[in-house]
Amino acid sequence: MDRPLTLLGIESSCDDTAAAIVRGVPGQAHVLSSVVRGQGALHAPFGGVVPEIAARAHSEKLDVCVADALAEAGVSLSALNAVAVTAGPGLIGGVLSGVMFAKGIAVGTGLPLVGVNHLAGHALTPRLTDGIAYPYLVLLVSGGHCQYLIAHGPERFTRLGGTIDDAPGEAFDKAARLLGLPQPGGPAVEEAATQGDPGRFALPRPLLDRPKCDLSFSGLKTALLRQRDKLVVDGRLLRRDRDDLCAGFQRAVADILAEKTRRAIAAFRAAEPNGRVLSVAGGVAANREIRSSLRNVCDAEGISFTAPPLALCTDNAAMIAYAGLELRDAGISHDMTLAARPRWPLDTTADPLIGGGRKGAKA
Ligand code: KG4
Ligand code: ZN
Repeated sequence: MDRPLTLLGIESSCDDTAAAIVRGVPGQAHVLSSVVRGQGALHAPFGGVVPEIAARAHSEKLDVCVADALAEAGVSLSALNAVAVTAGPGLIGGVLSGVMFAKGIAVGTGLPLVGVNHLAGHALTPRLTDGIAYPYLVLLVSGGHCQYLIAHGPERFTRLGGTIDDAPGEAFDKAARLLGLPQPGGPAVEEAATQGDPGRFALPRPLLDRPKCDLSFSGLKTALLRQRDKLVVDGRLLRRDRDDLCAGFQRAVADILAEKTRRAIAAFRAAEPNGRVLSVAGGVAANREIRSSLRNVCDAEGISFTAPPLALCTDNAAMIAYAGLELRDAGISHDMTLAARPRWPLDTTADPLIGGGRKGAKA
């Protein structure tokens, strides 16, 4: 077996400042610590992430997060083999904060620096949590991402499809705003949906009439707005109507993801006849209806379904440390010219996606 590596990972591409320590070899590693400091309260008054506020908060919190991650893991900087950092895609001020911080550590300690693609961090998580072998199929569904990827290796991905407008988490957040529910919208919509009738309103399933696995959620959001406006009386929406709208919306998202996942599995099998696993990542994977409908699709198609524990589905630095570990194991490191990139598609051969979620088009 290869010599185990111990890496520090740093993540600051959106509104979570995170640091983690991961140790092991590719396909067999464990998380020694994972510290995440969210910035929800700072952005709440503005109804969304404010890039300048995020960048400043990252630069203020990174040192504390790294110190906490080292202390929790019980390791010192001298025990590390490399420093991995998210070098994109994401909000550029935040990514720059992380990259500059990681460069400082690398210069100060002499440790190798490894720049990691944030999306690769999400996509490689099933190898960290379940030791899944390449190749496998990944569905990234969060507030900022939505794409189907075949993972062939730490730097080799094929994108089968993705959203052409909103990411599903972003659609849940907008739906919650339209219905007077709190942010983040996903858990609030899911909770209201438990009391609602998913069959009462005929909400659209955009792009299901098109053959490939690209997705669209913005028409669904507009249909929800129209339906809501028909139900509002004297500026008020009855609780029952709101719950039925939530249930209908959630069912529509689950149906869209289920059908597109069927198509993605077919494309995966055509490309990789030995592929056996679909893994899901991202905050929307927390949704019970969506999880169970994806599991049903996988059961029907005879493919294994895995979902990392929620703390490793949402943004974190353990996934960055792990992706850095795979790259380092392959002999990859970067020098002080490592750049922070607002956009960084995983599959450079695929056509650029038109949309890309609330962090802006990235892939
Ligand atoms: O992965 P994540 O923490 O951050 C990024 O977007 O990168 O995902 C957050 C998103 C939010 O849009 C949130 O509304 C959504 O995931 N989400 C959910 C649920 N929990 C979180 N969406 C639907 N159902 C949920 N239970
Ligand atoms: Zn993410």
